Amino acid sequence: MADVLAPLGYAPAEDAEGADMVILNTCHIREKAAEKVYSELGRIRGAKERKARAGGRMIVAVAGCVAQAEGAELMRRAPVADMVVGPQSYHRLPEMVARITRGAGHVLNTDFPVEDKFDHLPEAVSVSGPTAFLTIQEGCDKFCTFCVVPYTRGAEYSRPALAVIDEARRLVSGGAREITLLGQNVNAYHGEAPDGGVWGLGRLCRELAQLPGLERVRYTTSHPRDMDDELIAAHAEVPELMPYLHLPVQSGSDRVLVAMNRRHTRRDYLGLVERIRAARPDLALSSDFIVGFPGESDRDFEDTMDLVREVGYAQSFSFKYSPRPGTPGATMAGQVPNDVKAARLAALQDLLNAQARAFQCSMVGRRLPVLFEKPGRHPGQLAGRSPYLQPVHVEAPTALIGRIAEIEVTGAEANSLAGRIAEQSLEAV
Ligand code: 5AD
Ligand code: SF4
Repeated sequence: MADVLAPLGYAPAEDAEGADMVILNTCHIREKAAEKVYSELGRIRGAKERKARAGGRMIVAVAGCVAQAEGAELMRRAPVADMVVGPQSYHRLPEMVARITRGAGHVLNTDFPVEDKFDHLPEAVSVSGPTAFLTIQEGCDKFCTFCVVPYTRGAEYSRPALAVIDEARRLVSGGAREITLLGQNVNAYHGEAPDGGVWGLGRLCRELAQLPGLERVRYTTSHPRDMDDELIAAHAEVPELMPYLHLPVQSGSDRVLVAMNRRHTRRDYLGLVERIRAARPDLALSSDFIVGFPGESDRDFEDTMDLVREVGYAQSFSFKYSPRPGTPGATMAGQVPNDVKAARLAALQDLLNAQARAFQCSMVGRRLPVLFEKPGRHPGQLAGRSPYLQPVHVEAPTALIGRIAEIEVTGAEANSLAGRIAEQSLEAV
């Protein structure tokens, strides 16, 4: 959105207060998203009124999947919003702004054709720092029974491989050293290839890794069913592909996995983890978990705890199941009471946090290549990331920003590592 609006003279502001435009970018995946948007809009109304009293004008926009889902309802309930724009219509922001400044009242845009958007997004992407995101795929056809994504983001769509490679090339010439490929179900990627065929994500990663100057490639988020042999082989053979994989399992119980329509069993997942680790032994895993899906018994929950113990995760995200209107799960029998969900979530998070701490501590004393991104919190410090996506803080010369240097890890916090630059890395500066 920033890229699309830059040609109109908009640039990011520090604060909503006094801004010419405020965009609320929203996520609809779990409940209360819409309520949060309405209460946030209430706060923004104050800032908009102050700006008007000072003789200015603030355009208020709601973007993202809540905008897509609420649509006209949002305009009706929150007249403070001048524009409501769904994820597939961001390329139309300039025309929407023009209509509002011409006094067209409120503007709604929640059209769906995703191809249209990618054809119309601006070429000159702004790169802020050595890491960049690149959307290669949108939507999802999996229809997990708890999830709104197939409804809010629509059918799976993959961008043509050449368009992706071109954009990656531009990001690299703008200074990106690491690119994270994005998609709601990114490893379902099957983009039209230059040779007339179709490339999967494994092939795309291989091609991207060839780009001079691009040193790291990541991708997120993946579905276990779409981890094909080619992608696993890429983890073994492409050093630029970072050894960190977000591979949500959601539950460790086969009964619950069936009810969730995940289309994989516990055994499939464990077998997959084994094959990925055989390809890249140091690969660190993260996952999403849902506790309290309808019908989940104590026994089912224990199966999840058990799977976590068996796999061992470096990082995780875990949630209480929240019924989303319109999804099959919302009307299933056996909804789990909130106190049971809360107790299960607490137990699961204790285990996941202990694993995350153990993973952090296992880094102490090791040497790791770190891509430095920006100045750190304290003077003289730089902040970067390890191959395993861990934030790292070390004292280092600013000349290292945008470069990869070896560090010796001297300490581990819950969410970051401390260390010092290894000597030969300093000599290279
Ligand atoms: N309730 C709880 N968690 C959910 N997620 C998606 N839908 C729901 C829901 N209805 C979680 C899943 C998914 C992550 C992005 O959000 O774990 O992987
Ligand atoms: Fe939602 Fe992911 Fe399932 Fe798609 S694969 S329906 S995005 S949870």
